[in-house]
Amino acid sequence: MEFKLMPGGSLSGEARVPGDKSMSHRSVMMGALAEGTTRVSGFLQGEDALATVAAFRAMGVEIEGPKDGEMVVHGVGLHGLRAPGKTLDLGNSGTSIRLLAGLLAGQPFDSVLSGDDSLNKRPMGRVMTPLADMGAGISATAGGRPPLAIKGGRQLKGIHYDLPMASAQVKSCVLLAGLYANGRTSVTEPAPTRDHTERMLRGFGYSVERDAEGVISLEGGGSLTACDIDVPADISSAAFFLVAASIAPGSDLLLTHVGINPTRTGVINILRLMGANIELLNEREVGGEPVADIRVQYAPLKGIEIPEDQVPLAIDEFPVLFIAAACAEGRTVLRGAEELRVKESDRIAAMAEGLDTLGVKNEVLEDGIIIDGGPIGGGTIHTHMDHRIAMAFSIAALRADAEIRVLDCDHVATSFPGFDALARGLGLQISAQTDD
Ligand code: S3P
Repeated sequence: MEFKLMPGGSLSGEARVPGDKSMSHRSVMMGALAEGTTRVSGFLQGEDALATVAAFRAMGVEIEGPKDGEMVVHGVGLHGLRAPGKTLDLGNSGTSIRLLAGLLAGQPFDSVLSGDDSLNKRPMGRVMTPLADMGAGISATAGGRPPLAIKGGRQLKGIHYDLPMASAQVKSCVLLAGLYANGRTSVTEPAPTRDHTERMLRGFGYSVERDAEGVISLEGGGSLTACDIDVPADISSAAFFLVAASIAPGSDLLLTHVGINPTRTGVINILRLMGANIELLNEREVGGEPVADIRVQYAPLKGIEIPEDQVPLAIDEFPVLFIAAACAEGRTVLRGAEELRVKESDRIAAMAEGLDTLGVKNEVLEDGIIIDGGPIGGGTIHTHMDHRIAMAFSIAALRADAEIRVLDCDHVATSFPGFDALARGLGLQISAQTDD
C-alpha cells in the first residue's frame, strides 16, 4: 500500500486515536500471567499488539477478542503457560520480543522467538546480557539478532543491572524475568524511560519499588491478581496530529483521552519549546495512568536545540518532530539520540533521506540531526518499512508545495490501523492505494 498526499490543507475537529501500544502489549502479558480474568478496553488492534495476543494464545492462554478494543484475558497464573510447540512469530514488534524474552527465560519449557525482516535485524544483545547474568539460557544468531532460542528449566537469580542505554524494553525485560527469579531484581537507568511496566505490575497487585536514587526493584516469587485495564489513546499516535495541527495554518484539533504519562510527554514539551499552542484539558487519572484531552491550534514554530533529557521521553516521536523542525523558522539540533538508529529502521538515516528528497536542508550526526526549516517540496518517499516514517512524511504534505507519494505504507497497521481514514476525516488530503 502507498499513500498519496495532495499538498496543503488544515486540520480541524475531534478524534480519539487508537490505544497505547506499550500498554496494550503489557495488558496481554500481565493479564495472561495473572490469577483471574482481566478485562481490557481501548486495546490497540494493531499488528504489533496482536502478535503478543497470538503468542500467548500459542502458550495456552484463552483470550476473547479483541473486538472494538474490548478484550478478555483468562489468566493462567505465573506458572500456567504451556510450551508453544512452534516458533513465536512477533512480526515487527520489538516490545513483544524483548519483553517476552524476559518472561520466557523463567519458564520450564524451551521457546524460539522470531520476527519479520526488520525485527530480525534489531539488536537483542541488550536483553541477552542481563538475562544471561540472571542464569538464563538464551542464544541468538550472529551479532545478537533474532531468532532467539531460550532454554527452559533454568532457575533464575535476582541481579542488579545498571542499564547502559535508556530503554524501557530492556528495563521491562529484566523486571519481568525478575518475577521468576530467586530474591530481588533491581535496575537503574541512565535516564527515566516509560514506566508502564512498573505501573501495571502495581495495578495487578505486585509490589514494585522505586527508591530516592531511582533504583527500581521487585522480589521474585509473588503473584499477579487480575484487574480491569482502560488503555488510553497512544500519545505516539496523537503526536502526528499534534505536529500536523501545529504546522498547518488555520488548524484547531481536539484529541481526546490521550495518555499523558510524564515519561511519554517529551513531544508536548519539545513542541511547546518550539512555540506550539497545545493545551491539556480535563486532566484525570484512569487506571493508574494520567490522561487528558489535548487541544492543539496552529502556531508558527521556531527551531530549537532539543534538550537531551527530553530524548527518551519522546523517543518514538522524532520522525514527526523532524517534520515540525522542517516547518520551523531557523535551525533545530538533536543530539544524544543514537537509539533512533536501532528502531524499526535507522530513523536518522531514513528521515534524512526523505528530507533530502523534499529539499529540506539537514546534516546527519552520529547521534542526531541538524535541520534547517524552509520550504518543503514534493517527491517520492521510501519508508524503509517503518510505520512512523510513513506517517511523518504524510504529515509533511500539509506544508509541501507539490504532491508527496509515500511508498510501502503497510507497516502503518502495526501501530495505527486506520491512520489514513482518520487523518482524511480531520482534513489531511491523503488517499491510500494498494499496489497489486
Ligand atoms: C517501548 C519502548 C521503546 C519504544 C517502543 C516501545 C516499550 O523502546 O521505542 O516503541 O513499550 O517499552 P526502547 O525501550 O527500546 O527505547
